[in-house]
Amino acid sequence: MTQITVRRMAFEWPDDLPILPNPDDVGQSCELVALSFTLPYLEPYLIRTMRVAGKEDISPELAEDLSAFSKQEAQHHLNHSRINNLVRAKLPPETALAVRALEDKLEADYQRYTETKSLKFNLAYAEGFEAMTLALALSLLAAPPKGTDESWANLLVWHLAEEVEHRTVTFDAYDKIYGGYIYRLFAAVRSQRHYLSYIVNLSVVLETKNNQPISCDPRHAQAPSPTRDASPVRQDAVSSLRPSQDRHAQRGCGSAGHV
Ligand SMILES: [Fe+2]
Ligand SMILES: [Fe+2]
Repeated sequence: MTQITVRRMAFEWPDDLPILPNPDDVGQSCELVALSFTLPYLEPYLIRTMRVAGKEDISPELAEDLSAFSKQEAQHHLNHSRINNLVRAKLPPETALAVRALEDKLEADYQRYTETKSLKFNLAYAEGFEAMTLALALSLLAAPPKGTDESWANLLVWHLAEEVEHRTVTFDAYDKIYGGYIYRLFAAVRSQRHYLSYIVNLSVVLETKNNQPISCDPRHAQAPSPTRDASPVRQDAVSSLRPSQDRHAQRGCGSAGHV
């Protein structure tokens, strides 16, 4: 019997939900919001992949784990869709449009992957992503960022805890169906680069408007915001999801308000 528990959460978020999970750390907050905006596309892609993998010659136990994994992921992206819509309604129109364009591009990528890529590629992508999020979950749960808004914290802690709970499922599926190391290693790196490029680009859109950090109250800005190129992949994007007052200051925000 699977050890993965599917929980159906009933989060109730206030109308004044802050766009920034942690107003004291604009950079990390934008990365967390960016993460949330990717999940309604990433997690259905994982579910589609697990559905195909479940038809392979695997044990009943693994099939059960795949099913429970998918049910957990379904709950995750449903709740992230809900909070994303609350955030979206509060974004400046041009920011909302830019976010939507990136969402559409990401969804197109994942639909194309499902339709044209091999199960081996898609499973390796899933394994690479899950390995990365497991590391993220363990580090954030071990040292939760201080000052995170309670509504956001409840969502993120629930999601991260379940990411830990289903930690080995994608590896088990890949290992059973294909095995081997080299292909999985390269595909994992590729998947992480692909995914993180969207985190970076969404973060830049959320954080920057006309080269100014839109999440900063201009009355408190102390220095011009550094201009960041939206195109390069920043490999430390997820590892940077940790408290840092310095990063906040570097972005020219003396005091952060809501986006
Ligand atoms: Fe998830
Ligand atoms: Fe996951």
